[in-house]
Amino acid sequence: MNSIHAQNTNSINPGALWPDADGNHIQAHGGGIIKIGKAYYWYGEQRAQGLDTNQRYVSCYASNDLIHWKFSGNALQLSDPENLGQSWVLERPKVYYNSKTKKYLMYFHLDNSSYKAARVGIAVSENPAGPFRYVKSFRPLDHESRDIGQFIDDDGTAYLVFEDRPFGFRIARLADDYMSLDKEICLIKEHMEGGAIVHFKGLYYAIGSALTGWRANPNKYATATSLEGPWSDFKDIAPPEKNTYGAQSTMMLKVVGAKTTTIIYMGDIWKPKTQWESAYLWMPVEIGEGKLWLPEPSPWTLDIKSGKYEYITK
Ligand code: GAL
Repeated sequence: MNSIHAQNTNSINPGALWPDADGNHIQAHGGGIIKIGKAYYWYGEQRAQGLDTNQRYVSCYASNDLIHWKFSGNALQLSDPENLGQSWVLERPKVYYNSKTKKYLMYFHLDNSSYKAARVGIAVSENPAGPFRYVKSFRPLDHESRDIGQFIDDDGTAYLVFEDRPFGFRIARLADDYMSLDKEICLIKEHMEGGAIVHFKGLYYAIGSALTGWRANPNKYATATSLEGPWSDFKDIAPPEKNTYGAQSTMMLKVVGAKTTTIIYMGDIWKPKTQWESAYLWMPVEIGEGKLWLPEPSPWTLDIKSGKYEYITK
């Protein structure tokens, strides 16, 4: 832990250790965020040391400002639900709130150690922090699914983005009760994972990474006026030689304030040998009129009320 420095407590410090309210580095890798009332909930892969290695855990953290996070416990604790065998995989959990059923639905990538099962698992809870109960697993619309991403449009419609290895990157709509997917919206014929989408000023921006496992690569984006496409060509979000500053996309978070809207690129800086030290690269992006750019990482702060961000100057 010596090479990375702890977060300044009032700023977001990309790549640094990010202590929660108890001083522990946040364990919410490959994660996603939802907002319920004024509270933000951050779910992710719990990769702390010393846990039961037969189980998989999804953590939940809560915050009102996206900077200070309190650990609300593990929202899901699961033993191998489908006879997947040793070193089974639960990755990239994403939680949706269904206002009709008043239930929280967690989606995650469920797999065996060789990543051949390529399924989605779902779990349900009445409370944001859980405990979530495992429901079932399936292949979304009968397709292979590895990395998943979550997108909720401004009108509240919920979508799952998933990587379908033979074909590309699919966007599908969740059914009314969120217990399944009811419709494919688009197949983007690009092999991309870490898929994330944001809707900003009339345009959809889809981002993703190349398929290089835990190693970082140049993440790219495309735009479309409708989720169905047609999508533009994919372009770099940062100088390609920087490999996205060591990060891999997991979500684009839209913060709508009273004065302005900030879009945050949320990425993971994976440490495959010491996963509990994997860090986060969160940066406000420069976005608009079909362009999206991830600036060079630097500490910044956010005013959740106005929606404005600011770089921290020393
Ligand atoms: C990455 C993927 C991660 C994890 C990893 C395993 O490509 O984005 O979520 O599955 O591969 O090697």
